[in-house]
Amino acid sequence: MTQPPVPHAAPVCVPCRLAAIGAAVLALAGGFAYTAGWLTPARLTAPRIIDTFQTVAGQPHPGYRRNHAKGLCIEGYFDSNGAGAAVSRALVFAPGRTPVTGRFAVPGGNPSAPDTSTPVRSMALLFQLPDGEQWRTGMNSAPVFAVHTPEQFYQQLVAAKPDPATGKPDPAKLKAFYAANPETRPFQTWVKAHPPSSSLANAAYYGINAFRFTDASGSTRAVRWAMVPETPYAPVTDAEKAEKNFLAADLDQRLQNGPLRWHLILTVAQAGDPTGDATLQWPADRQQIDAGTLVIERTTSQEDGACRDVNFDPTILPAGIRPSDDPLLAARSAAYAQSYQRRTREEALHPAIHQVPSTGDHS
Ligand code: HEM
Repeated sequence: MTQPPVPHAAPVCVPCRLAAIGAAVLALAGGFAYTAGWLTPARLTAPRIIDTFQTVAGQPHPGYRRNHAKGLCIEGYFDSNGAGAAVSRALVFAPGRTPVTGRFAVPGGNPSAPDTSTPVRSMALLFQLPDGEQWRTGMNSAPVFAVHTPEQFYQQLVAAKPDPATGKPDPAKLKAFYAANPETRPFQTWVKAHPPSSSLANAAYYGINAFRFTDASGSTRAVRWAMVPETPYAPVTDAEKAEKNFLAADLDQRLQNGPLRWHLILTVAQAGDPTGDATLQWPADRQQIDAGTLVIERTTSQEDGACRDVNFDPTILPAGIRPSDDPLLAARSAAYAQSYQRRTREEALHPAIHQVPSTGDHS
């Protein structure tokens, strides 16, 4: 049988092929270099933000979050009453129970910092929906954020870098930052008027950034949320201020008497309310929906509890909730991923990192 003729191969230009391969490799390397910020050192990147968190923390704390480093894991569930379905088709708002894993923390990069090192406390949650979707959120105990752009956030971090002479931030630099950024005033005013809570259990936690909620009929509205405690607020006492780790001890004591509860309050924007500026609250008369109850039943140590390897990226959302135009959301997502990547790599390379818990055993 005769074989079909083999098409005549075009002459191979070896230098051309090498040049093409070289160009492809360079383009790839250039892409990586650009993403890492090596080609544009002035560009704000997630690695640059995380490097600056590390400088502010003063010394390395391998295996720990680069911000909100001191914390503990929590477990419980969310009982939806169905009212949230009026604004979002997310399954978490259908009547019924959703398991929740979460984390309480205080801001800052030092996992052994005293609880009084900052007036803010935080609650992060991961709702595990029945269809496999997740809703992750990180909330702070102030209803507004200090800054409204990632660049301002970075400048605030730079202003907080420790002075090599004292090992502490230079108050003059921080003062100059606040004077140059009047958007920080609502946050500062709120902090002055609201002494920190005496407990993690009696603080409200605010999602702060706006999100877009879509209901079953396809209508979309801007929404913010907060977890409002059933436990009445009380300010921190002088005796508590003298204790380095009073928040974890207090929480364990309260949980011995039963679960702790918060109400998920959704606030619905009206046309014209700002959705891209986390320094501004919406008017107090906006519609509020009590969507159900968060029940926290137990804590575990952050060194080996379920929250350890969770990245509470606020852009991981179920169908029915989307990010808004707030520029902080994308910056948070990128920075949390960078922090997560570094800390989980450190854990994998040095499994003994977490043998000495930073805040005691909370189980
Ligand atoms: C550009 C702005 C922000 C940056 C760069 C930033 C950065 C970070 C980083 C790097 C972490 C550690 C993440 C991890 O390793 O898992 C973190 C944690 C956290 N952030 Fe932010 N953040 C920003 C804005 C906010 C805002 C507006 C809120 C409040 C709504 C917030 C609330 C939290 C909370 C609650 C945690 C702790 C999460 C946990 O417990 O694991 N952050 N932040």
